[in-house]
Amino acid sequence: MSYTLTHIENRILTITINRPDKLNALNQATLEELKSHVVAAQDNTDIAVIIITGSGDKAFVAGADIGELATTNAVTGMQFAKFGQSVMNAIEDSRKPVIAAVNGFALGGGCELAMACHLRIASDNAKFGQPEIKLGVIPGFGGSQRLTRLVGRGKSMEMNLLGEMIDANEAVRIGLANQVIPAADLSATVNSIASKLAASAPIALSMVIDTVNRGYEFSLADALDYEIKAFGICCATEDKSEGTSAFLEKRTAQFSGQ
Ligand code: COA
Repeated sequence: MSYTLTHIENRILTITINRPDKLNALNQATLEELKSHVVAAQDNTDIAVIIITGSGDKAFVAGADIGELATTNAVTGMQFAKFGQSVMNAIEDSRKPVIAAVNGFALGGGCELAMACHLRIASDNAKFGQPEIKLGVIPGFGGSQRLTRLVGRGKSMEMNLLGEMIDANEAVRIGLANQVIPAADLSATVNSIASKLAASAPIALSMVIDTVNRGYEFSLADALDYEIKAFGICCATEDKSEGTSAFLEKRTAQFSGQ
């Protein structure tokens, strides 16, 4: 593993994309490492929350690796997009919350990576965009679809057609990012959010991720029915007994994830 760094502390796994000389661009090897970290984290009981960020102070991820993109043909291009989408899907489907700490450029595959995460906290120097059109292609890691679902068809069409960057405040305004934080405070803020999540009820967290994401693709009636069943499952957990008891006994809940 050479393009990513990992660090586990207080049940928070931080994955740092580590190609600062290439603004953390996602080549195939980096994508493979990223996916294997996220998949392995699912069954690691020492990990409750995942943070994904970029190395250095300039970029989160400046996109798919354009050097590799340049060598693709129709077949290898599809393979690259398919694998990239599998990475984004692994992140989006993670049972443990994934936070993107967007510490600079989040362009192309970087914007797609951020969008696959469950929360996006941006530094005030962050820039988001889908500039693929300028390279004669379109997003391949889900950008044409996740952006549309996050910000609506009008803004998604504009960002994908024009390929221009937007700043972090605009990203929050349109619903692409959750918060903007001064760059110097980004890491502490994201860790504080991650700590809150790490102390929360794991099964209920995974049910929120699942019902929000899956339900978004269903009819409202089917989504509400799905929520009923997920609610029922939560009601059968020890965490629900602990959470309700702790409230009634006026103490802090200690969730076990059972
Ligand atoms: N793939 C491969 N290399 C990339 C890259 C990418 N997506 N983005 C940046 N780099 C490399 C540059 O080629 C440069 O490498 P070099 O020093 O070996 O020449 C290095 O990262 C620094 O980038 P540079 O362009 O010099 O920095 P900048 O501050 O002038 O511009 C950006 C920053 C982000 C505006 C510019 O790098 C950019 O437009 N990158 C491409 C964004 C993009 O189109 N992403 C979608 C790809 S599908």
